[in-house]
Amino acid sequence: MSLGMCLPITMPSVVIIGSQWGDEGKGKIVDYLAEEAQMVVRFQGGNNAGHTVQVGDEVFRLHHLPSGILRRGKAAIIGNGVVLDPAVLIEELDGLESRKIVTDNLRISDRANVIMSYHKLLDGAEERLRKGSKVGTTGRGIGPAYSDKVARLGVRMGDLVDPGALSERLQFLVPLKQRILDAYGDQARLDLGSIEKEYAAYGQRLRKYVTDTGYLVHSALRKNRRVLFEGAQGTMLDIDHGTYPFVTSSTTVAGNAASGAGVAPLALDDVYGVVKAYTTRVGEGPFPTELHDDLGRTIAEKGGEFGTTTGRPRRCGWLDLVIVGYSASLSGFTGIAMTKIDVLSGLDELKVCTHYALDGKRVSRIPADLRLLNRCEPRYTKMPGWPDLDDASMKRILRRGYQELPANLKKYVKYVEKTLGIPVVLLGLGRRRNEILDLRKKKWTARPRK
Ligand code: IMP
Repeated sequence: MSLGMCLPITMPSVVIIGSQWGDEGKGKIVDYLAEEAQMVVRFQGGNNAGHTVQVGDEVFRLHHLPSGILRRGKAAIIGNGVVLDPAVLIEELDGLESRKIVTDNLRISDRANVIMSYHKLLDGAEERLRKGSKVGTTGRGIGPAYSDKVARLGVRMGDLVDPGALSERLQFLVPLKQRILDAYGDQARLDLGSIEKEYAAYGQRLRKYVTDTGYLVHSALRKNRRVLFEGAQGTMLDIDHGTYPFVTSSTTVAGNAASGAGVAPLALDDVYGVVKAYTTRVGEGPFPTELHDDLGRTIAEKGGEFGTTTGRPRRCGWLDLVIVGYSASLSGFTGIAMTKIDVLSGLDELKVCTHYALDGKRVSRIPADLRLLNRCEPRYTKMPGWPDLDDASMKRILRRGYQELPANLKKYVKYVEKTLGIPVVLLGLGRRRNEILDLRKKKWTARPRK
């Protein structure tokens, strides 16, 4: 095969993007689509992500591994744009192997940056120093690892698996990090020898997976293989476009699927925005449609809205179409996967935010200035609720399709589609793996490109 960049006419790839503040149910959607995919690629974030997938009665919680790992025979790729904590990844691999899940199909980019133990210490120290303006990070060392990557002070997976390179890197990095921790007033003492030994051991364990994954993804696309790009976090946590500084440290919009996986932008074909039927947020920062009342707490309980990674309760609120529309414009959604419909079932009335009001003016786009966003008042359209979906109606819907949905649920879906001008292609109706109503016209779409 030539090394050239001449790509085929159609790119059978789909990118999955969180359209809110993360926790939209991307793991479940990726797991569902992974049945048709041949390769699943993570391209950003780290183990701040937590994807829950329920298979039968078994629940899998993944932090590092692409959700596609649960489907046998799919290539599972951790791309260059990810920051990776090797200890966590090894634990995850061991956990899956003990449950008889084959993990041989995993490949990790040699360019991915490593989350070191000192990154976690720095994450904690920086949060403490922020005092009243904490970000509310997951404490996994994500920000410090990405900062080091950009400052060219990172350790990459290629270094981790090469004891000589690792040692050389750590000789100057560890003392440097010690100086920063000291300056922060942190008591931690970093021991070069033990860090080197610990991380060299991780490197040897993970070595067999580490390779040039960009080439693998590119080659798969050239062979017209169906590739699924699995985004983590959500658009409102994007380092540029989110509610800065209450964001994560990576680019969570679709453009980064190319860069973070090591392929060309035109390799991205469909982009599905995952939209939870309501909105949640973990950690600090503005949230215009947040519910501070009993209803918010009821939704949180019914939806199991506690962080997969940290166990923190998630803040809950109404669906905000200003946010979803903004996400759609940033990532070019070609379809929407709406999740957790069942959590909203049983309410008499629902609200959907269509725009904000600020100083008597209509606002339909997220302002960069959080002081303005904090003053935005959500304006709602009221919608009638639909009944709880019992087992019999769930079965009927899954067997016979859209026509069987409760009339008011259809109205809700249509309203979202019409307001955004984007079709709802998947509808998550319940917790289980199969409780997804597939509304795609074709099973895996590949739009022709010039
Ligand atoms: P960090 O990514 O750990 O630095 O955390 C920064 C912000 O992003 C915090 O508000 C976290 O709660 C949030 N965050 C990071 N990852 C996720 C996720 O996967 N789901 C939801 N929120 C997240």
